[in-house]
Amino acid sequence: MRLLGIDELGACQRLAKDRGWGPEDHKWRFLFSVGHVYGVDDGNGELAGTVVCTPYGKDVAAISMVLVAKRFERRGLGGRMMRHVMDEAGTASTCLTATDYGRPLYERMGFRSMGLCTTYTGVSEGSSHRSATKPVEEADMAAVHALDTEVFGADRSQVVDGLPTFCETLRVVRDGTGIAGYGGAWRNGAQVIVGPIIAQDAETALTLVDEVVPEGLVRLDIDHRHPELIDWAERHGLRPAFTTTIMEFGAPVANDPSRLFLPVAQALG
Ligand SMILES: CC(C)(COP(=O)(O)OP(=O)(O)OC[C@H]1O[C@@H](n2cnc3c(N)ncnc32)[C@H](O)[C@@H]1OP(=O)(O)O)[C@@H](O)C(=O)NCCC(=O)NCCS
Repeated sequence: MRLLGIDELGACQRLAKDRGWGPEDHKWRFLFSVGHVYGVDDGNGELAGTVVCTPYGKDVAAISMVLVAKRFERRGLGGRMMRHVMDEAGTASTCLTATDYGRPLYERMGFRSMGLCTTYTGVSEGSSHRSATKPVEEADMAAVHALDTEVFGADRSQVVDGLPTFCETLRVVRDGTGIAGYGGAWRNGAQVIVGPIIAQDAETALTLVDEVVPEGLVRLDIDHRHPELIDWAERHGLRPAFTTTIMEFGAPVANDPSRLFLPVAQALG
């Protein structure tokens, strides 16, 4: 297994295509910038497998893009790649969002299921008014970072610092002393993914969603612990597309799921 560079993005995307995943150019580029992209060569100039590991200090690592080419599956490669990146990261905890393909593998490795996440997709009419939230400013970033660390349970500086450029929209709700929440939306091909949304309560979170959601094709990855977001999605005509499992390994992550309304991306928590 070796670390891949951004010049190998095309090979990653060919492997993703082999497993029916989209090119997700913007997301891969962000993952290359905030995490470590590992690959296994197939001996013929292509990749047999990839895994992305994004460590947040020594506390938590987020794992994503676990892909094994069809022609190499069920030979133990997925399990070996996972163990390798988890050893390299050496964090107290590991988190990921598992597809039905991946879940049995992670369960056998000792990952625990923390909850389910349903992806809602559809066409949004966009935001009709933007009065309760404000575009994020440089001066808000320290408070955004502090809130993110408190709610996520680890210091995701590299991700938070990258959000103003990664997201098409990034807005905050300011209160007397700091911020009551922040939220964004970013483009993934034809779709815009709404997230992250981190807020002190559901009302603030729904205000942020209302004001960051664009017009057009949208996607929200909703943790079932947030029925108010499922209700929002259904009221706005979005429909469930697929369900994944939120999993953790190692020490329990010191997060607060009640204030973590939408992930940055399933790949990053
Ligand atoms: C999920 C995925 C990465 C697994 O990769 P893999 O290399 O096939 O994984 P492994 O070989 O380590 O394990 C898969 C299965 O093969 C079995 N296996 C491992 N070595 C084996 C061998 N030598 N002979 C037969 N079976 C074997 C494992 O026990 C496991 O069985 P299970 O699924 O019944 O639990 C791959 O299927 C994939 O890319 N899927 C599409 C993308 C995806 O959904 N990724 C997961 C994102 S969370």
